Amino acid sequence: MRLAILASGRGSNLLAILEAIARGELDATVVGVFSDRRAAPALVHARNAGIRAQSLAPREFASRTDFDEHLFSLVDAVQPDLIVCAGYMRLISDPAVAARTGRMINIHPSLLPEFKGLRTHQQALDAGASVHGASVHFVTSELDGGPVITQVRVPVERGDDAATLAERVLQREHPLLVATLRELAGGRIAWIDHGVHFNGHPL
Ligand code: GRF
Repeated sequence: MRLAILASGRGSNLLAILEAIARGELDATVVGVFSDRRAAPALVHARNAGIRAQSLAPREFASRTDFDEHLFSLVDAVQPDLIVCAGYMRLISDPAVAARTGRMINIHPSLLPEFKGLRTHQQALDAGASVHGASVHFVTSELDGGPVITQVRVPVERGDDAATLAERVLQREHPLLVATLRELAGGRIAWIDHGVHFNGHPL
């Protein structure tokens, strides 16, 4: 399975994917990494692995749609089977999403549908949640609202702040994303008729 990764920052999820591929635990190839931030460490990780890495600066484009048209023309050029938003922090315009429905996933650090958007760990703490986690979902035009594919639950511990909770969740995000990609690459999870199917059955 050919993967294109969108990332805005640190790139630890990208590294987890690359390491799983290198260990032979994921039958996939990362064919390109794309960012809205030229300084994203994720781009460095990609280049170190010999992978095409490109960034575009949103401020150089007239509109979100214009930016996305250019960004996704770069993405399309590497002919991915699946686009993985792994810490991609920019809203994607509706036409760009609609053209790729079922071929784009996102990892979000909460148990969706709880705590969409930003600062999810602080949201969980503020809500007094005892269990938090992460979700992988198909991207639709609703922010963090597309069908959930997989989730991992992570306990909130006494004395947690947003940073300690984020770190505990992140350690579980990496295997969650890799396991989800393995199911998608193996064809066991698929997007059919506007929904997620597992082994041919609707989830
Ligand atoms: C992760 O917590 C991911 O769930 C969220 O942004 C963070 C990205 O981390 N969407 P990294 O760039 O993969 O290290």
